[in-house]
Amino acid sequence: MDTIYSYKIFTLTHKNTHLNDIGHFVLSENDSDAALKERLLEIKEQMGMRELMYLATCNRIMFFFTSDDNADGQFYPSKFINSVYAQLSADVLQIAHDNALIFEGREAISHLFEVAASMDSMVVGEREILRQLRDTYEKNNEMGHTGDAIRLAMRFCVEAAKKVYSSTKIGEKPVAEVSLSIQKMLEKQLSADARFLLIGAGQTNRLVIKFLQKHGYKNIAVFNRSLKPAEKLASILGGDAYTLDLLPSFDKGFDVIFAATASTELILTKEIYKSMNKGDGSKKLLIDLSIPANIDSTIAEDFDADYISIENLKKLAQENIGFRELELGKAQEIVNEYVETFDTAYKERQIEIAMRDVPEQIKAIRAHALNNVFKNEISELDEQQRELFDRVLAYMEKRCIAIPIQVAKEKLAHS
Ligand SMILES: NC(=O)c1ccc[n+]([C@@H]2O[C@H](COP(=O)([O-])OP(=O)(O)OC[C@H]3O[C@@H](n4cnc5c(N)ncnc54)[C@H](OP(=O)(O)O)[C@@H]3O)[C@@H](O)[C@H]2O)c1
Repeated sequence: MDTIYSYKIFTLTHKNTHLNDIGHFVLSENDSDAALKERLLEIKEQMGMRELMYLATCNRIMFFFTSDDNADGQFYPSKFINSVYAQLSADVLQIAHDNALIFEGREAISHLFEVAASMDSMVVGEREILRQLRDTYEKNNEMGHTGDAIRLAMRFCVEAAKKVYSSTKIGEKPVAEVSLSIQKMLEKQLSADARFLLIGAGQTNRLVIKFLQKHGYKNIAVFNRSLKPAEKLASILGGDAYTLDLLPSFDKGFDVIFAATASTELILTKEIYKSMNKGDGSKKLLIDLSIPANIDSTIAEDFDADYISIENLKKLAQENIGFRELELGKAQEIVNEYVETFDTAYKERQIEIAMRDVPEQIKAIRAHALNNVFKNEISELDEQQRELFDRVLAYMEKRCIAIPIQVAKEKLAHS
């Protein structure tokens, strides 16, 4: 019977390997699903793996597999590296020899659960990894590389990760600058008809608009170097679009400005601000998400405005990451509990698999007894006696099927 020891992980992660170096070990067949399927099949056969799930993200590669009950059942990382990455130069291979992490048995299960719960992530608590892991499992499963053992491990892995996310604060407090800036903005408790002016129409302000939409704000104007992207972005909330040169003459008023462009020069200078503000005395919020800054920070000194820079947000992000990391101890306790539960579930599953043939075998014995061994004696019974005999046998059959599984599970519980 298999033991939990057949689970293994070979991995390179951001924790001890440079991200650029991890890139060398991403299977290039990733570009085509059919090619990746073939490559993984080849690896499985070469390395005597029974089941395999291969995960590649921007900061880790992971081979999660079960090994065959072959030879000494040992996994040799050097053999794996030299054979799977035979095309790489000796220098590059050395990176894997020096940094690859190997986990076996319960440690492999524990590592998988920790990855899913984002305890091993670059930014602790980012749930994205759980989605990536689930997608990877689906893909590997469709390719036919996973089976009962990885299915069971993934079931518990998802449950453990969800428990960590719901019972700890590991995912609380945003760490992405845009979410943080929105959080800061929400603290101001602006009215629903607050006027937003966005400078830039790239990815960052697209995300800002998504958040504004989510929180029910509708009044926006988008300024951008070129008009088309501004129009596209503004149309999400039915707002107006302008080119940057129209900023000084803008006279529709504003309460919040978000700036996010790739310009290396200030875009909102004090002069332009003065011209746009037109003596409006109400308090403004200026949020500069650009690196380098696009808004002159000294505007806040001369006008009634709060200024939030990306530097402030980055500092807050670091504090929030620190807060999340404090939750790691609690998360580890949850993972340990789930590894324990998984261990029992895995053994029970092995018993079920081993006992799968018991019902068929007992049915066959019953049929043999009726049709061969006691055939003559039974033929002499009257219908009532035959019916009673049949019921006794059916009862015995049912009990006999349940007993071996029950005994094995009891033995397991007391082992
Ligand atoms: N992406 C993020 O998650 C993120 C998070 C925090 C901060 N940031 C910072 O936010 C800023 C924008 O990033 P992004 O990802 O949104 O960029 P992006 O998608 O590449 O968009 C670039 C934007 O900058 C404008 N732009 C480029 N050069 C310009 C120039 N010389 N003068 C005026 N406008 C110019 C572009 O206008 P056109 O449409 O005319 O080309 C476009 O609106 C960067 O400083 C970035 O470091 C990004």
